[in-house]
Amino acid sequence: MTGVVRHLYVHLPFCAHRCGYCDFVTVVGREGWHGPYVDALLVELELEGDVLAEGVETAFLGGGTPTFTDCGELRRLLVALPAAAEVTVEANPETVTPALARMLRKAGVTRVSLGAQSFQPKLLRVLERRASPDAVRSAFYHLRDASFDNISLDLLHGIPGQSTAALEADIDEALALAPEHISYYELEAKPRTRFAYAHGAELERQAEAMEGYFDLVVERLNAAGYRWYETANFSRFEADGRDLRAQHNLAYWLGRDYLGLGIGAVSTLGDERRRNTSRLNAYVSSLVRGEAPPRELEELDERTRAQERLMLGLRLDTGLPLSEATCAVDTAALGRVERLGLATLRADGDGLTTLVLTPRGRRLGGAVTVELLA
Ligand SMILES: C[S@@+](CC[C@H](N)C(=O)[O-])C[C@H]1O[C@@H](n2cnc3c(N)ncnc32)[C@H](O)[C@@H]1O
Ligand code: SF4
Repeated sequence: MTGVVRHLYVHLPFCAHRCGYCDFVTVVGREGWHGPYVDALLVELELEGDVLAEGVETAFLGGGTPTFTDCGELRRLLVALPAAAEVTVEANPETVTPALARMLRKAGVTRVSLGAQSFQPKLLRVLERRASPDAVRSAFYHLRDASFDNISLDLLHGIPGQSTAALEADIDEALALAPEHISYYELEAKPRTRFAYAHGAELERQAEAMEGYFDLVVERLNAAGYRWYETANFSRFEADGRDLRAQHNLAYWLGRDYLGLGIGAVSTLGDERRRNTSRLNAYVSSLVRGEAPPRELEELDERTRAQERLMLGLRLDTGLPLSEATCAVDTAALGRVERLGLATLRADGDGLTTLVLTPRGRRLGGAVTVELLA
């Protein structure tokens, strides 16, 4: 490894079944393919790995359901990856046994992101989730028993039929587990999913009633000692100053380059973005021949990179140096947005000016960013 890229993403697409709301690149069935797929990932790492720096900072195994991958194959992959300070694996609760938790820890995983989504049986059924609330809690304790001291919970708000009381109950359940990190996403009806057909209209009807839900999430998590550091992400404040933000995702939001391996995986390398084929057969068969998989290439010019830097940087509570996105900012709009109390410019010494959204601006999120784009 001789390159400069310090962040590695690996996509593990296999799932036991397809949840109705999900439009990620996933593969159901094809259990016989776990081994060949891991072989292909390792060939791709061999082909592309020279862009990686000696000191890789973060690796993230996302899915799909990485922990549904055959345990021996997952272990073989983990031990072959370059060592990194933060190694995160996404896990579905029903797949986390004490043995799996121990294997992950032994194979160098430092952080687990557990897909809880909700603790209400009725809402879990709407989402077509397999794990019961008890399974979520058990998985969490198995991970703690295996000495994981950095666990994140994924939760959803805006689920059809979710009352304010049910949202409060989910927040209570999550806080009772005291995870180091919480991702709280608004459920989206992704086009062409089963969920969009079955619940899309209902979701639109209830949108107004659920408008205050995320404010409630922010209020409750802040009060419980979690920092709202990114649009949908919260990290616990630690007395010892340990930074519990998701370092891998933080690298994306800070506009750093990363290498992505696997089907559907995206890489951003300097002025080029690559997107691998999402077809399992085409991916594996190319790599069996020792060839790079089919992929789309996109050239990133300076303006596109500045726009992306602005859109991602404004998601963070730390904002971004204005100089990194100057050509993407509409200065007249910036004046308007500042006067409305939605964004501020802060002088941070060394002549550096930081552009940051105010809490009110962050609640409006994307709408303020769109306004600011030149
Ligand atoms: C693609 S999943 C992979 C992790 C794991 N398989 C799981 O289901 O928990 C990553 C996260 O994306 C979020 N997600 C997936 N589909 C979503 C949707 N339609 N709207 C909002 N969040 C979604 C869920 O919170 C999920 O935990
Ligand atoms: S388990 Fe996760 S990745 Fe798989 S279909 Fe369900 S939401 Fe999507």
